[in-house]
Amino acid sequence: MTRAGLARISFVVTFGLALAACGGASPSTLHAEGSESREVARLWWLMFGLAVAVYVVVASLIVWAIVRGRRRTRRATFNDDKFIWIGGVIAPAIILLVLGVFTMTTSNAIREPSSRALVVKVVGRQWWWDVSYPGRNVRTANEIHVPVHTKIHFELTSTDVIHSFWVPEIAGKEDVIPGQPNHLYVTVEKTGTYRGLCAEYCGLQHAHMGFEIVAESPGDFERWVQTNAQPAQEPVSDLAERGQLVFRRSDCAGCHTIRGTTAAGTSGPDLTHVASRSTIGAETVENTPANLRKWVENPDQLKPGVEMPPSVLSHDDFESVVAYLETRK
Ligand code: CUA
Repeated sequence: MTRAGLARISFVVTFGLALAACGGASPSTLHAEGSESREVARLWWLMFGLAVAVYVVVASLIVWAIVRGRRRTRRATFNDDKFIWIGGVIAPAIILLVLGVFTMTTSNAIREPSSRALVVKVVGRQWWWDVSYPGRNVRTANEIHVPVHTKIHFELTSTDVIHSFWVPEIAGKEDVIPGQPNHLYVTVEKTGTYRGLCAEYCGLQHAHMGFEIVAESPGDFERWVQTNAQPAQEPVSDLAERGQLVFRRSDCAGCHTIRGTTAAGTSGPDLTHVASRSTIGAETVENTPANLRKWVENPDQLKPGVEMPPSVLSHDDFESVVAYLETRK
């Protein structure tokens, strides 16, 4: 083999390995941990297997034809006709039929409704996810806790544009449409944290519309519900207490709810337990004191185009509000 040929092969191998390595960091539909994604992955492997088989057969025939063609030429015979009928009509028809049947049974299996499922309402908004649990007095944002081995019914709607709810390891994509609730039924089979994302371009910060599914044992989930159904505790310091007062009287309360106080706005995320969440701005930045401070000061510097305006509070009021939010566990 020539040196150029070797270089080309080594480039392809290196590039392929690099791609494979990148794939490891992001969620893959083939790393299935949900009832729905498992069905989808199974179908994918069947399609992949059949495609590989067809490729190998066709490629071998091409090589064989090249080799044979060099040796001699001959006229078409009855055998060639039969070969075309089998290879060109019968085999593809059988393969497509098998795929068609499996695709239909998979589609039916993954869209099976259940009236006993745990309902989780998810509202897509530019650019975050409003999450609530009907009848359980829990409302949160971008972090969806669910129990494992339990059928979950995600009820999906939007208040503005079309989004798409996608947790690759758990289920396929489902459109999130204004005025048209869509339903996704899924059972998560293993505890863990699964990354979700918006899979439909929805404006400037579409790429920062991530979320998390936190799958826990049923006991842990019930404890989480109990904690999060409570209003947040009273502020523990004087500064935080002042922050609560400022929050209630300022624009903050016009958009955000903190249960147990008079702040009851609904156009922004519920902040009752904001300090217990792992990220700010739908997975834009980690929820650290420094980032929280930056966010309250001017969210646009972390997430340009976001609806929340910059803070107009005095320095002291600003400090107290940040201190207050940090205690919302
Ligand atoms: Cu919401 Cu893209």
